[in-house]
Amino acid sequence: MRTEQRDRVTDGWSRREWLQAAAGLTATGVLGRSSWAQPVVADVEKQLVVHTTVPHNAEAALNDLVGHWLTPVEHFFVRSHAPVPEVDLATFRVSVEGMVEQPLELSVGDLQEMPQTGTIATLTCAGNRRSEHSAVRTVAGVQWKEGAIGNAQWGGVRLADVLKRAGIKPGAKHIWFESIDQVKKGDDTFGFGGSIPIEKAMADHDGVPGALVTLRMNDQPLPPDHGYPVRMVVPGYVGARSVKWLGRIVVSDQPSPNHYLAGAYRVVTENTPLAWVESGPIYNYIMNSAICDPTAEAELRAGRATVRGYALPPGNGRTISKVEVSGDDGKTWQAANITGQNVPYCWVLWQASLPVTSATSELIVRATDSEGLVQPQTVPWNLKGYMFNAWHHVPVNVT
Ligand code: MTE
Repeated sequence: MRTEQRDRVTDGWSRREWLQAAAGLTATGVLGRSSWAQPVVADVEKQLVVHTTVPHNAEAALNDLVGHWLTPVEHFFVRSHAPVPEVDLATFRVSVEGMVEQPLELSVGDLQEMPQTGTIATLTCAGNRRSEHSAVRTVAGVQWKEGAIGNAQWGGVRLADVLKRAGIKPGAKHIWFESIDQVKKGDDTFGFGGSIPIEKAMADHDGVPGALVTLRMNDQPLPPDHGYPVRMVVPGYVGARSVKWLGRIVVSDQPSPNHYLAGAYRVVTENTPLAWVESGPIYNYIMNSAICDPTAEAELRAGRATVRGYALPPGNGRTISKVEVSGDDGKTWQAANITGQNVPYCWVLWQASLPVTSATSELIVRATDSEGLVQPQTVPWNLKGYMFNAWHHVPVNVT
């Protein structure tokens, strides 16, 4: 990433200032811990479209999303498989175990004593836009529209630093994360979990950590819904790898056997054991885009319509090079203006002034990444409705 890109300002703050704030550092570089003296555990009042209340699954209304490059917590989607666990900070510990020289039991205070860093990263659910898969053939699960996505500043400790402190034994290949929550599946009760390859755990993508043991979201302690007191954030990976309410980190030579890595969050088209094994876990998210304003069935006047939305670069570190919109079924395309920052691991917001006529029945958007890869017009159906990233269509009425 070029330096000038990373230092562009947003809302009057440079990226460096955002990163300092995310890490809990004041402008003078002193660790600001006052908000931890009395932990803020009350959740902000969410303004979301609710799918289920317990566990909480809710997404942002699209026109709320496009107002801010950094998504306020009240508009940040929630994806949970179990109720929010109760936490006693006095006894709470994150254990680090498995193939390590020195197993660790880290309290929140211990994590705060370690070097703090921050990053801005977009989190998106692999099931974002699942409802569009269901329009082809029904897919079970929460029927997410396009709002299971948000961009936040995250603060905490590099996973690499935690692992270096424990000392990784030779032969380690995967880092497992396990939550203290209680997911019920059939007769089983277990913590949500998963794993990431060790290369990602140790990576530093031009200052963006491969994985962050996260204590803060948008310069506040994590809200309960988002994993208080400690969660993982894995920039560029689907949200499922960013395990909330983190209780255990295990270093292993195998991927995690947890259901949410071994038996879910995989792209399969048939429900056979072979298909599940062969598919492999989803890690990186893929490029996506959506029109957020106007919303479906909006009444527009013929002439020029202001169209706004988001575009997400693929999670492999590329950026968005182009966003295009069409009002004539994709016969012609107009480039949108990218507003604000355009950096790896973060969405862009964009805006276009698009000519529309009484013949316009829908608006369409597609994005192109920095390697020239264009978002696909259609995508094949899959059993769990993951990774839907076809061109986004919004029906409108123009008079
Ligand atoms: N961690 C736990 N413990 N339990 C969960 O259900 N859901 C995962 C991930 N981490 C989940 C979890 C999924 S599928 C997503 S998309 C993200 O959390 C959502 O994070 P958010 O609720 O903070 O937006």
